[in-house]
Amino acid sequence: MGKEKAVVVRQFNKDNPAEALDVVKRDVPEPKAGEALVRVLMRPINPSDIFCIQGIYGGWHPKLPAIPGLEGLGVIEKIGPQPTPPSTETARKLKEGQRVVAVPWPSAEGEGTWQQYVAVPIENLVPVRDEVSNEDAAQYLVNPVTALGFFEDLKIPKCKYLLQNAANSVLGKEVILLAKKRGVKTINVVRRDEVINELKSIGADEVINSKTENIVARVKEITGNEGAWAAINPIGGPASRPFFSAVRNSGLVYIYSMYGDEVYVPIADLLWRDVTVRGFWLNVWLSRLPKDVKEQKLQEVMDLMADGIIKPPPARAKYPLDDVKKAVEDAQSKSGSAGKVLLEG
Ligand SMILES: NC(=O)c1ccc[n+]([C@@H]2O[C@H](COP(=O)([O-])OP(=O)(O)OC[C@H]3O[C@@H](n4cnc5c(N)ncnc54)[C@H](OP(=O)(O)O)[C@@H]3O)[C@@H](O)[C@H]2O)c1
Repeated sequence: MGKEKAVVVRQFNKDNPAEALDVVKRDVPEPKAGEALVRVLMRPINPSDIFCIQGIYGGWHPKLPAIPGLEGLGVIEKIGPQPTPPSTETARKLKEGQRVVAVPWPSAEGEGTWQQYVAVPIENLVPVRDEVSNEDAAQYLVNPVTALGFFEDLKIPKCKYLLQNAANSVLGKEVILLAKKRGVKTINVVRRDEVINELKSIGADEVINSKTENIVARVKEITGNEGAWAAINPIGGPASRPFFSAVRNSGLVYIYSMYGDEVYVPIADLLWRDVTVRGFWLNVWLSRLPKDVKEQKLQEVMDLMADGIIKPPPARAKYPLDDVKKAVEDAQSKSGSAGKVLLEG
């Protein structure tokens, strides 16, 4: 069927991930039974993609060389043979030419989205609603589905507070938007004053600057001494400590990323106040859902995006696949909270 462009990781590079990448030409895959060939149009560069290329992402151990890219938007180019009809209603309705995202893409096998064509099991495809732009759809999986996962798992009652760190990340902003929809209040921790007004403008109830304020004291003041119902925190090291002391008795703290190697948990919070710490990884959360519930949750996220309730910030920059090294350097140079860097074409 011809050739495609693909970005490959030849060897992991922790210090300089852009150096690990090459753009190569290879044969376009032929979809096997039960698969569809998807022409990928756009993908964001997420922190998790950079972790993969650095060789520090626990969920990505493909045989190298491998193609990175955990998410993206594409169009169904060709549906492969279907010896038995797909088991889901959604998959049975898919047509060539339709815009789709995949959950998951076959990234773990080294066939990620940083290439022009990917063969994907048809049952992994989610149709993109007309109201969702290509740019937003390309960012459907990693952050919006995680934001929904947090709320589904934490079951925070209406009017109670969720405390979150790195709240000005793209994920943090989507958590604020979804919290508003669900009637949950948010206390948002940032490390720069410049981002406070923006977070308030999208519905953050409270914002704390960790550089200038005492997180535990402020959370107690805001919650009338009760503490936040739960906390979500992507940052390890000593900065993780106050999040345990700032949740209520029997509160839950999710650690969900890899900035830092370890978290600091005060024993007193574990022992006398029954606080619990857990990791949250999107893939594990999705894998625990029964098939019909997973389909329903994925549709719910697509509907939240179509209704404008979850909206990623506009992309900060766009690069063709050929310029992937520059794009990765750009993505690393600034916080993604200013909008993602996208790879096109
Ligand atoms: N576990 C999961 O399933 C899952 C799913 C989705 C995302 N994630 C993780 O969630 C995180 C956010 O993702 P994203 O796409 O929203 O990222 P993003 O938009 O690029 O934002 C990264 C954020 O991290 C903050 N940050 C980085 N290092 C920090 C530090 N040492 N102390 C305080 N803040 C720091 C930045 O703050 P400044 O703006 O002040 O620089 C920025 O707000 C990533 O680590 C990603 O891997 C995990």
